[in-house]
Amino acid sequence: MDPERIFELEAREEAVEVGGRQVRLLTYGGSFPGPLLALREGERVRIRFRNGLDEPTNLHLHGIPLPPEVDAPHRVLQPGESADYAFRLQPGSAGTYWYHPHLHGQVARQLGAGLAGALVVRGAVDETVLAGIPEQTLLLHDLALGADGTPLPPGGIDWLHGQEGDLVLVNGAVEPALHLPATLSRIRLVNAATARYFHLDLPGAELFLVGQDGGILEAPVAVERLLLAPGERADVLVRADAGAALVLRGLPYARGGKKAAAEALPLARIEVGNLQGLPLPARLREVELLEASTAHRTRRITWGGAMRPLRFFVNGRAFDPHRVDVHARLGTTEIWEIRNPMHLDHPFHLHTHAFQILDRDGVPEPFRAWRDVVNVRPGEVVRILVPFREHPGLTMFHCHIVEHEDRGMMAHLEVLEG
Ligand code: C2O
Ligand code: CU
Ligand code: CU
Repeated sequence: MDPERIFELEAREEAVEVGGRQVRLLTYGGSFPGPLLALREGERVRIRFRNGLDEPTNLHLHGIPLPPEVDAPHRVLQPGESADYAFRLQPGSAGTYWYHPHLHGQVARQLGAGLAGALVVRGAVDETVLAGIPEQTLLLHDLALGADGTPLPPGGIDWLHGQEGDLVLVNGAVEPALHLPATLSRIRLVNAATARYFHLDLPGAELFLVGQDGGILEAPVAVERLLLAPGERADVLVRADAGAALVLRGLPYARGGKKAAAEALPLARIEVGNLQGLPLPARLREVELLEASTAHRTRRITWGGAMRPLRFFVNGRAFDPHRVDVHARLGTTEIWEIRNPMHLDHPFHLHTHAFQILDRDGVPEPFRAWRDVVNVRPGEVVRILVPFREHPGLTMFHCHIVEHEDRGMMAHLEVLEG
């Protein structure tokens, strides 16, 4: 057998410097964000994870199509315990992913305290059409800190809207200065915040989307701005003049229930170097066409909630670790119609099985991509196509505003064989 790539990853509390201030965060490997794990399609990987915190936690590799035994979001690792996450990366999995804790009820606090890192899988497309384009991964996060420099756990109204910290960070830094060496460079963006939406632009540059979540697109798509809901990723080519000085900005976004900020927030300064960039690739790869007509059934998923006490629901019920909410059959494809009758945005996330977005309020998705997160706006109906091709077993889907997930907006899916 081919060799295994082995990574050691420890969750532990650590003093780190953020925005010129010493703070105590929960970290992976002592840094915030955690180390960037760079993997390759086809590779065998083993992540040796150790819980060095003084509280239980676990590890979730967000978006990677893993068998449920490996993903194991139900696992509870007590302080001092370790677990291995061993898997092989499938062909076609090149994309941008991330990792974070998934301990039900504690996700918002632990992720909000710093437990997040990016994970990049490279594949054939990175060695052919995208080869030679310099790239960077930017993990977006925010922190709410108390006067003593420790993260504030979510409280009160945070459980309703999701907690937004006022320190908005790119790779753990406030408004860092970044350098893109060439006039065509690539940035991979990860929204690792518990609840903050990042609505991004980069005036003075042209942006071309080349990937979303765990999937490379068929061809670059020119975009003016990007909206990343919590959990979402975007893989973008940036074209700008040599020597340009740019500012990556977070634009106001009125997510339901929350007033939009009054003005754009500078997130990072970007300096473009003098290297002549490669031409923009015309084609990237083939993305399989899934036909809605091949679906075996349509299933309705409805977001919901109740105020006193504050709970969030999927199809009228809060998460129950002992209940399976949805059964599907391996080898079938389903249309999921996700309805959001609430006045808050809720990003839908499905583990294990990548999907394609069919339409939003009846408007067909303009291009094909394999996704694992899709935002659902107030009043909106989003239809996705999910083929259950591999990885039978118990998995889950939830809102990726993790405060909502912790308060019940999660459900089990069991994919049965035969
Ligand atoms: Cu990013 Cu169920 O998680
Ligand atoms: Cu996930
Ligand atoms: Cu939600």
